[in-house]
Formats: sequence, structure tokens, C-alpha cells
Amino acid sequence: MVPADTIQLHVNMLNDRTRTSAYLASISKAVRPGDVVLDIGTGTGVFAIAAARAGARQVYAIEAGRIAKAARTLFRVNGVADRVTLIRGWSTCITLPERADVLIAELIGDDPLAEQVIGITRDAVMRLLKPDARLVPSDIKIFGLPITIPTDELEKLTFARDVLQKWQSWYDIDFNPLLKVARESSTNLLFGHYINVYEMRAWKTLSPPVLLAHVDFQRSRGFRIHRTETATATATGALNGIIIYFELQANSTTFLSTRPFLVDAGNHWFSPVRVLSNPIPVQIGDQLQITYWYRPWSGISECEVRIGTEPVRLAGNRGRRILATRSSRLAGSRGPNFFTGDLFVKLRQKHWQTPSSL
Ligand SMILES: C[S@@+](CC[C@H](N)C(=O)[O-])C[C@H]1O[C@@H](n2cnc3c(N)ncnc32)[C@H](O)[C@@H]1O
Repeated sequence: MVPADTIQLHVNMLNDRTRTSAYLASISKAVRPGDVVLDIGTGTGVFAIAAARAGARQVYAIEAGRIAKAARTLFRVNGVADRVTLIRGWSTCITLPERADVLIAELIGDDPLAEQVIGITRDAVMRLLKPDARLVPSDIKIFGLPITIPTDELEKLTFARDVLQKWQSWYDIDFNPLLKVARESSTNLLFGHYINVYEMRAWKTLSPPVLLAHVDFQRSRGFRIHRTETATATATGALNGIIIYFELQANSTTFLSTRPFLVDAGNHWFSPVRVLSNPIPVQIGDQLQITYWYRPWSGISECEVRIGTEPVRLAGNRGRRILATRSSRLAGSRGPNFFTGDLFVKLRQKHWQTPSSL
């Protein structure tokens, strides 16, 4: 049986027509007749079927979860079972009889790197792909967008003064100390928040987006990312949040983006919002220094913003391993994906047996 949360994840992804169609279009461009294709995390098998239809001689569809059983049925019903080999297990644990010309992997989390796409892809590049293999996606770019979160939305995210007073009137309890809690970075975890950016169409942006990380999966060594970039404010307002979103590339072209204002109602990703409990007043022309980290050993990303010299740490997932994989969101932060970080990709490979094929 496939766990309900897993089914819901696949429903959400297939309902995201922009995502799925963008991948399908990139796959049909990347796959050439006679290719060997590796589809890591095949899920329902949708991309493996597309690769077979694009002319692949052989598709290896790898899936660790129980959804693999459904994929096998779809391969048969869609008449591609003779060219698609389903392997149930972790890609990092399997070996293939031949190296692949094309890699397909849709392992982009809500926190974009949280599904360990860097480590999993690197492992495939080293062991399972030909040296000049084509990757879908080949690159991910991660952007930060400084914003003003509207008051009514902010009140859902953090201990805001107005809302504490409202609670006091409801419950006759003095909640004011929670303001201090909201300010202290050690409790940032409380404020790690994710939003479907389709919901923030009316929010105010304070500068153009800033490129915070660019990972070329073919060349990435899986090291820590630590980058500071400057955004120049193009609007005056209260800076109280940074939205993190991504763009995916294949063949040097961007084929998918969760950029706010561009996504449609079908978008299923929830983008991290780094909430700033004490808003920073920003004037047009101010220079905002935004620093982004990704730690491969924990799989956790964070960011910080500085205006002038004072660093202000924004809410992230520090201190505990709650990963923004999409399955963990559906399972209330404790999804089946309990291994964290790219480091665990290695450990899994070393110490885990591949589950038996279906
Ligand atoms: C985000 S879903 C994508 C499913 C399908 N490719 C699609 O786009 O509709 C990712 C799938 O990859 C599987 N997965 C994640 N890491 C994997 C790995 N290293 N090896 C095999 N399967 C993996 C998960 O169980 C999940 O079903």
C-alpha cells in the first residue's frame, strides 16, 4: 500500500501542470533516439514514460518509495514496459549495467536543496552517467526577494504586537514576553515559514530578486554554499521578510521557476519565507546585503540580511532537523524522508541494502 501522504504528494505534483509540462518539454528536447535514460525518483513514472516516448532505447526508473508499484503498472498500461526497467531502491545504492546519456531528477524541495538533490545528482554523475550526459535539470538557481509581508499575514507567522494584545483581550493573559522570543534568533525555528508564492501576488517587493546560489549539478562538488549578495532597494518600506525561490535550467535554458508573480494557481511548492521579527525601514537606494548558506551535512539552508553593518539573522530552520521536503510538509514535518543532508546520501549508500525489486 502507498502511504496517503505519498499519494497526496504525487497528486499535488501532477496537478501542478506548469511543473509537469515544463519537465516533459525539457525531457523531449534532451532525449535522443537510442539514449539510455536514468530517471531518479520516478514516482508515478510520468517522466520515464516521456523519455521512452522520446525514443530512449532503455530507461532505468529508480524509486525508493512504494509508489514504485504504481509506476510499474503505468509502464505496462502505457506500452513502455519493454523499454523501462523499474528498480525499487535508493539511486545511491543501486548499480546499473550501463551508464546513462540522460539524467532526469525532480528532487527540488520546498526549501529547494532539502531533498538532497546535490548529493543524489553528484552520486549519479560519478557512478551512473556517461561523462557528457545531459541533465534535466542541469542547474538550479536560488534567489532571495526582499519583501514587506502585510500585517495580517505577518500576524500568522510570528508574535506580532497587535496579535498579542488581541490574545490578551481574549484570554486575559499577558503575552508580551513573546515579543522578546520572536526577536531572539535561537528560537528562529518557531518562525520558519513556507508560503505558496501564488498567495503573495499583492505583497510589496523592495528590490529586484538577488541570485543567492547557482549550482551546476554536473560540476558541483556538494560543498557548503555561503554567498553574500547586494540588493539595491527600489522601493521604500518595512523589510520584514525574504522569499527564497528557485529556477531550473536544462541545456542553458530556464524551464521552470517559482518566481513570485510568475507562478500560476497550480504551483504546488511552498517557498521558504525568512521572517524578520523586527522590520528594517528601507529607503530607495539602500544596499541590502543578503547572505545565504547551505550546509550539505545537515541539508539545512539559512539566510541573513544586513543593512549598513548590523547583521540581522532571519528565521530559518536552525537548531533542529525539520526539512522542507514536500513529503515532510504533507506529513507534518516528520515525513518518511527522515534522513537529512547530502552527507546522509553517502551514509545511505554505504550502509543500506537496496530494497528488493518489486
Ligand atoms: C518529488 S517526487 C517526483 C516524482 C516524479 N518524478 C514526478 O516528478 O512526478 C520524488 C520521488 O523520488 C523518490 N526519491 C527521492 N530520492 C530518491 C533516490 N535517491 N532514489 C530513488 N528514489 C528517490 C521519492 O520517493 C519520490 O517518490
